[in-house]
Amino acid sequence: MMIKSLSVAPLTPPPPQSSTAPQKMAIPGSYGWPVIGPLSDRLQYFWFQGPVNFFKKRMEKYNSTVFRTNVPPAFPFFIGVNPNVVAVLDVKSFSHLFDMELVEKKNVLVGDFMPSVKFNGGLRVCAYLDTSETKHAQVKNLALDILARSSATWVSSMTTSLDTMWDSFDSTLSTGGSASYYLPLQQFLFTFLSRCLLGADTSASPEVEKSGTIMLDKWLALQLLPTISINILQPLEEIFLHSFSYPFWLVKSDYQKLANFVKNEAKEILQRAQNEFKLTEEEAIHNLLFILGFNAYGGFSLFLISLLSNLENQKNIHEELRKEVREKIAQDVLSFETVKQMELVNSFVYETLRLSPPVPQQFARARKDFELSSHDAIFDIKKGELLCGYQPLVMRDPKIFENPEDFVYDRFTKKKGGNELLNYLFWSNGPQSGTAGPSMANKQCAARDMVPMTAAVFLAYLFQRYDEIGISSGSITSLKKAK
Ligand code: HEM
Repeated sequence: MMIKSLSVAPLTPPPPQSSTAPQKMAIPGSYGWPVIGPLSDRLQYFWFQGPVNFFKKRMEKYNSTVFRTNVPPAFPFFIGVNPNVVAVLDVKSFSHLFDMELVEKKNVLVGDFMPSVKFNGGLRVCAYLDTSETKHAQVKNLALDILARSSATWVSSMTTSLDTMWDSFDSTLSTGGSASYYLPLQQFLFTFLSRCLLGADTSASPEVEKSGTIMLDKWLALQLLPTISINILQPLEEIFLHSFSYPFWLVKSDYQKLANFVKNEAKEILQRAQNEFKLTEEEAIHNLLFILGFNAYGGFSLFLISLLSNLENQKNIHEELRKEVREKIAQDVLSFETVKQMELVNSFVYETLRLSPPVPQQFARARKDFELSSHDAIFDIKKGELLCGYQPLVMRDPKIFENPEDFVYDRFTKKKGGNELLNYLFWSNGPQSGTAGPSMANKQCAARDMVPMTAAVFLAYLFQRYDEIGISSGSITSLKKAK
């Protein structure tokens, strides 16, 4: 088991050894009758069971973390989309998704279905490129370069935008009542990410400043609707949201405005993209817009909501977090250096990423025939088969995480073996620790380190600024400023 694991997943050290050696086994499960099988699985996935139970129930039924199933979208208007996948639902089998010798990632960001390239200026942007494509290296290196260069001003840009957001919460709450945090969070993210990732000031374009978040939300929704479970208005969702893909023209004019914003306000980075990374101006604009809008804004919009809702559920540890933050911030300077020393804050962030990975599903296609190991068995995978990992279950693997269902806020601290556990934290499509990290040779999120650090700064800012924070059902309900 140890040797197999090492050979299949170079980014990830092998999980602890189990007592019995895994045996070769046929992959359980089936795809059912044509049309009927995929349709029935789609209805179970979106409606009757929901994604978590969909995977969980099949895992129990087959008594295996690896099995065959269909995943949406499917039937009737997704002609040419093959819903057949092999689900991989434990840490060991999921790790194969990171091994670029074994799998390819061409056009499989959200499965066999790929939103029209019209949503990205007619181009296949970085997230859809395989590591074997030269363009992938060019754009990935650009993304890594942007993050490295902006790291010096990241925290100060962020706190400027945080000041604006929390000042506004203070003033709303001072007149009584509460304030929903969804839209303010998105506004904060859009402003600060535009500045850090593009060097662009949103105030340069009044229309984009006012409506940029709504433009991005609509653009994201139209691309992803066929794959997202909402499950509030069934059967209307199945009929209107999950049966066909929405056309780009619905957001065409918004997209054009956002692309113009990048073209006009991100001039320096566009120059660098062309001179140093040999991209055309068009490639640079649409890739930067995707990185800003899809990767960063989309990812953080989901992640910060989970972070705040965990703060709401974990009121009893606010005091401990606040104490750590104030002890570690020397002379009121918030920086990456200071938050790195906040073990509890970081552990809280990692635990949120473990239980609520913002991008729940990852896909990869077998580059060749190979043997895939789960904790319990070994399976034959054929070239061309699509693997589908569902992170919310993988990150509850009981062989790796003790009390996997519980939010254990200090799980990732040193005293609890947190350093070792980071090898198995996969939200970024790769392990959180290890020297390999995101590079042009893999498909790990370019911001593997920046994302948790940003969340830690977000929390540290909050606990530095307030003595008490009240949060309830998506709203800030009370705030008591630090004395
Ligand atoms: C909370 C925020 C974020 C989350 C949850 C997130 C998550 C992810 C995930 C899961 C992937 C892999 C997708 C796949 O291939 O299956 C990815 C890829 C990527 N992310 Fe992030 N990301 C976030 C923020 C960012 C930011 C701030 C950047 C800015 C540079 C970024 C840049 C990228 C890029 C360029 C890729 C493509 C990597 C490649 O093709 O090799 N992400 N991200």
